[in-house]
Order: sequence, then C-alpha cells, then structure tokens
Amino acid sequence: MKHIYQAGKDKNAPTFVLLHGTGGNEHDLLPIANMIAPDASILGVRGNVLENGMPRFFRRLAEGIFDEEDLIFRTNELNEFLNEAAEKYEFDRERLFAIGYSNGANIAASLMYHLPNVLHGAILFHAMVPRRGIHLPDLSNTNIFIGAGTNDPIIPQQETKELIETLRNANAIVEEHWGHAGHQLTRDEVEKAREWYIRLTESK
Ligand code: MLT
Repeated sequence: MKHIYQAGKDKNAPTFVLLHGTGGNEHDLLPIANMIAPDASILGVRGNVLENGMPRFFRRLAEGIFDEEDLIFRTNELNEFLNEAAEKYEFDRERLFAIGYSNGANIAASLMYHLPNVLHGAILFHAMVPRRGIHLPDLSNTNIFIGAGTNDPIIPQQETKELIETLRNANAIVEEHWGHAGHQLTRDEVEKAREWYIRLTESK
C-alpha cells in the first residue's frame, strides 16, 4: 500500500498507523499524530480503493452502506500490510495504535471487529459500526478513544453508542468524547485524544 513512514525519537513509544477519510491520503493525519504523540513513529497509509478519484479504504454502495465483501477483503489486506511494514521498518507489531478519521476510523474499527490482537489501541474520530451480526475477538487490554459529534449528519448518535457498546462487550476499554459538532474533525477532540493518550502512557 502507498505509505509514508517516519521513525520517532522515542523508541519506546508505540507506533501509530494513520488512516485518512474519503478523499484523503497518507499525509493527512501527520499533524494530528504530531499533536497527540510527537515523539512516536508514524506510518501513514493511503487507502487502495478509488471512488471517483478519491482514495478510500474499502468500497461502499452508498453513503453509510458498505460493500461487506470488499470491507472484509480490504481489512485483511491492511492487516497483512501492517505485518509487512512492522518487519520492514522494525517496529513492534504488538504495540501499534491506529488514528483514523471517518472512512479510516471505519477500517480501524473493522480491524478490531474481525482480527485478534491487531491493534494495541485506537483513536477513532467519527467512526461508524463497520459490520453487524458477528462475534468480535477478545479486546481485553485494547484502549480505544472515540471522538463523535452530537450533530454528525452522517453518523446518528445511536450508531456511535452501538459501536461503543459492542467494543465494550468485547472487553475493550473505551473512552468517549462528544463534541457539539458535525462530521468534521475538531481541534477540541484532537486535544481530548492527546490528553487521553498522555493519561494512558502515564498509567503504564
Ligand atoms: C464511509 O464510507 O466510510 C463513511 O461514509 C464515512 C465517509 O464518508 O468516508
């Protein structure tokens, strides 16, 4: 997959994989990652699917209606890419955090819905329920920050709550932050994610 890797100053920090929203690229979330974990190594990835020229991580049939077969295929493809990248760049595959926004948050959620031990933690900004009716792997020790907007026109509050409940039922430790905003990524939620990550590293 097309990507950018930046080795961080702190070799003990986890590595962050960055997953952009529809129409974005591997560079989009670099400033966000720099705010949240300035010294960590960073792997920015570009989605392999194009929708009218806009990169995405999996196909959709309409807004909010996912092509389930492609979602599963792309989830496995991304996981394999992460395994290869960990070998190539020699980062600890067991300590990988995701930062995803919108479509990128959806594929990050899909990784955790489908595959065991795939992410050590995740920051999901404006994520949807990637799939329903499946049994999730055990997500014990997986820390997840969810940033949502109370007026998100794409994601009803009920859907975010369902996502949180499903992840918690699989034993994930989920922190939720609700901003009075729509689907856009706000500085406030990035700041809250930063505070969450600092608390997490200090408690270890
Ligand atoms: C998706 O297709 O993943 C969601 O609708 C979010 C987006 O617009 O990318």
